[in-house]
Amino acid sequence: MTIDRSIKIAPSILSADFANFGQEIQAIEAQGADWVHVDVMDGHFVPNLTFGPALCAAIRPHIKTVMDVHLMIAPVDPYIDAYAQAGADILTAHLEAGPHTHRTLQAIRAAGCKAGLALNPGTPVEAAVPLLDLCDLVCVMTVNPGFGGQSFIQSQVEQVRRLRALIGDRPVHIEIDGGVDPKTAQAVIDAGADVLVAGSAVFRGGSVDNPSVYGDNMRAIRDACTVVWA
Ligand code: DX5
Ligand code: ZN
Repeated sequence: MTIDRSIKIAPSILSADFANFGQEIQAIEAQGADWVHVDVMDGHFVPNLTFGPALCAAIRPHIKTVMDVHLMIAPVDPYIDAYAQAGADILTAHLEAGPHTHRTLQAIRAAGCKAGLALNPGTPVEAAVPLLDLCDLVCVMTVNPGFGGQSFIQSQVEQVRRLRALIGDRPVHIEIDGGVDPKTAQAVIDAGADVLVAGSAVFRGGSVDNPSVYGDNMRAIRDACTVVWA
């Protein structure tokens, strides 16, 4: 099985106008977003609180592309069905969120979603090896999860390179999350990533009344990546 390894930009709505998600999503998709990234935080696994399943269900009708839900919650398993029913296409859970990630990935697929595995910067990518056959995506965190607008952790580029080799020809996306901008994007694409989550770097300077800035911001990231892993 092959997958689309072209560069995909997934704006994180953590940086959108929280009073206006519907229009914000329509604006970023009209301006070229490939996926919509939804950061779910529980104030426990990470020190911030964001979106429950009801919010996800409410924004789902506005998403025409892919609803990419990043669960920064522990425990994960009791909430998988709720986020699946809210319409997630991809549900990504953290390896660090509990002792039974193998079961979690199975449960995500059983709920009808693509399964993603996220790795914090302190986790060696080799820890994902026993789980790769259960993954449709591995998300390499390039910040410590919890907040938008943090600085990209450069040492993660080498981890992406090693992960790319470990994945081999499995149909697994590599997603990068945190501090992605036109300056940091190329190194992770060269290292083998194909999905770039970006919050601040997409929403900065734009609004639903001035959406072309979103397009310019996404183009700047894409244009910075001249080499595509093949
Ligand atoms: C961090 C989140 C990210 C975040 C990215 O915990 O998982 O998706 O919103 O934001 P930027 O692009 O601003 O680093
Ligand atoms: Zn995220």
